[in-house]
Amino acid sequence: MNLKIDQERLISEIEALSKFSDAEAPAVTRIVFTPTDLKARDWMKSLCRDAGLAIRKDAIGNTFARWIGSDPLAPAVGTGSHIDAIPNAGKFDGVVGVLGGLEAIRALQRAGFRPRHSIELLVFTAEEPTRFGVGCLGSRLLSGTLSADAAAKLIDKDGQPVEEVRRKAGFSGDLREVKLPAGYYKAFVELHIEQGPVLERERQPLGIVEQIAAPASLYVTVEGSGGHAGGVLMRDRRDALCAAAELILALEHAARSTGAIDTVATVGICDVFPGAINSIPARVRLGIDVRDTSLARRDRVIADLEDACRKTTAQRQVSIRSELLNADAPAESGPEIVATLRQACEKHGLRFLPMTSRAYHDSLFMSRIAPMAMLFIPCRNGYSHRPDEYASPEDIARGTLVLAETLAMLSE
Ligand code: GLV
Ligand code: MN
Ligand code: MN
Repeated sequence: MNLKIDQERLISEIEALSKFSDAEAPAVTRIVFTPTDLKARDWMKSLCRDAGLAIRKDAIGNTFARWIGSDPLAPAVGTGSHIDAIPNAGKFDGVVGVLGGLEAIRALQRAGFRPRHSIELLVFTAEEPTRFGVGCLGSRLLSGTLSADAAAKLIDKDGQPVEEVRRKAGFSGDLREVKLPAGYYKAFVELHIEQGPVLERERQPLGIVEQIAAPASLYVTVEGSGGHAGGVLMRDRRDALCAAAELILALEHAARSTGAIDTVATVGICDVFPGAINSIPARVRLGIDVRDTSLARRDRVIADLEDACRKTTAQRQVSIRSELLNADAPAESGPEIVATLRQACEKHGLRFLPMTSRAYHDSLFMSRIAPMAMLFIPCRNGYSHRPDEYASPEDIARGTLVLAETLAMLSE
């Protein structure tokens, strides 16, 4: 099979998709179900239609573009990723897996390959947690990790229920029907930028992911007492932000002191109320993300944070409540999919590194319903979730080639 990736077309499509953005270039902001996201989805669907793929969407907006195999009833081979982007993001996170997945299919078509199992490109809804607080909304529902009832109760940052937001975006139907039937996929493979520095540092062109770390996120709200920044004496204060600062540092200390490289903890949201320079913070809400490959270690960090909450409550006479948004188990890749990815690399004479993904991906949840593995390509300096995120055209094309070869082997 003469498999050739159209690198120029793929890169120009990545550029074109980055123009659907609510931030000024080179930054990309594309929050799920905004008019910008909906336009990007329409554009994406038109590319899939041009490739002759059969398209369907489900009630949460996951989009499936299928190249129907010669045995249409056999379980499909899935690939894909997401096109939503956090505020002030780059062009490549998720996008490489979606447009690379499409180009892999087109390359197989051009090479005259005929799959026996259908090959299906998936564009997942809301991999990013920006709007609804929880990441991987689409794949959580597809895999049954999140129930339809729990999903329907989610509200966005402006207090709009998910039910209303999705219907306004044109996705009606019953959320209970999003869950895929058992055996729907034979395998799932996701191409993604590494979002870390390892491949670049080790001078390896590809990474084959063997496990995905266990993510957890929570909101911690600290209530103190507000007041006049000039009038209230220091000794009389119950400043919610000072209390929150102690929690942030306690979390950092807990994560650092496990001694494991895979323990990471981040406070990415700090909402201060009322947020006036001459007003003592009365309330602070922290958005906290904790991850580890070891569930026990991750949960110990969360337990340490809870201890710090109790200590700070007593010492600073504030009240603190926490709300767990998600605490997921890690995922192991399917050994047979890892072996196929290795074989595909070897066939093209490409070196690879076995890897752990500390970032989460829709594949974490797809692993609950199908054997899964991921293929990583390097990204400059390991940067991601920032506008200067960059993967080279050669690395993107190389990853797409190996993806195409892997899809071919899995779908025969
Ligand atoms: C995905 O975007 C993650 O936060 O790992
Ligand atoms: Mn991301
Ligand atoms: Mn991603």
